[in-house]
Amino acid sequence: MKHWRLDQIAWGQFDPGKVAPEIIPLVKAAAMVERNGTDYATYLSAVFNDDLDFRQAAANWAIEEVQHGDALGAWATLADPGWDYKAAFARYRAGYPIQLDAAASVRGSRTGELIARCMVETGTSSYYTALGEASEEPVLKQVCKLIAADEFRHFKLFYDHMRRYLAREKIGLGKRLRIAAGRIGESEDDELAFAYHCANEPETRPFERSRCIAAYGASAMAFYRYRHVERGMGMILKSVGLKPRGRISDFSTAVAWRLLRWRQRHFAAKTRGTLSP
Ligand SMILES: [Fe+2]
Ligand SMILES: [Fe+2]
Repeated sequence: MKHWRLDQIAWGQFDPGKVAPEIIPLVKAAAMVERNGTDYATYLSAVFNDDLDFRQAAANWAIEEVQHGDALGAWATLADPGWDYKAAFARYRAGYPIQLDAAASVRGSRTGELIARCMVETGTSSYYTALGEASEEPVLKQVCKLIAADEFRHFKLFYDHMRRYLAREKIGLGKRLRIAAGRIGESEDDELAFAYHCANEPETRPFERSRCIAAYGASAMAFYRYRHVERGMGMILKSVGLKPRGRISDFSTAVAWRLLRWRQRHFAAKTRGTLSP
């Protein structure tokens, strides 16, 4: 039950003259993480072993995530015909295994697992919105728009299931906040850094986490505008049970925006070599 298909994308309108070179490595890295969706569905299926409704939803969700990877991979191959999407993904998969047979969520509860999934979908929906708006290239714009719409729907899916489990598990606000903050902190984790490495660096170059995070963050964070952070913050607050609009939201958005700009400048300086590691 996909909402769109790869052959609906106007690949023929690809315009190499409008490709910003700094976007290509980001799209390649994102393709790796998205393509890995099936392994996450296997993990989710193990965690929610007796919840058939959710398992079916997670299986459909994974099909869409894999398609995101394939769409981004196809675009990156147009932008850089020498790039081998399949080989890069094989490298990524071999080096970044996900625990598939988990008996319980690594977040401590099913509610916690679903809050963490909401954080991921908040991140991806904001990211593809920002990337699509920043891109001049029409095909990437279309791809990002389709993906972002899926990510907003995924957020809603995990949010609805989370509310169902919250009523049963009754996890307190403090714990929900900690889970949310913990998952946001992981956004700069090995997963993205390793994806950037496999998608962009030769096999002969050893993986160095901090270098890859900086290279990725310096470009990726530059695409965000205040409105993207504002919308994302509303989704984060809603996930933990706070009001998505109002004083808490305004304040948190202002802080997050400053932090994002600071991180971007820090990563850019590190990537340029004007900052010691
Ligand atoms: Fe996705
Ligand atoms: Fe998603």
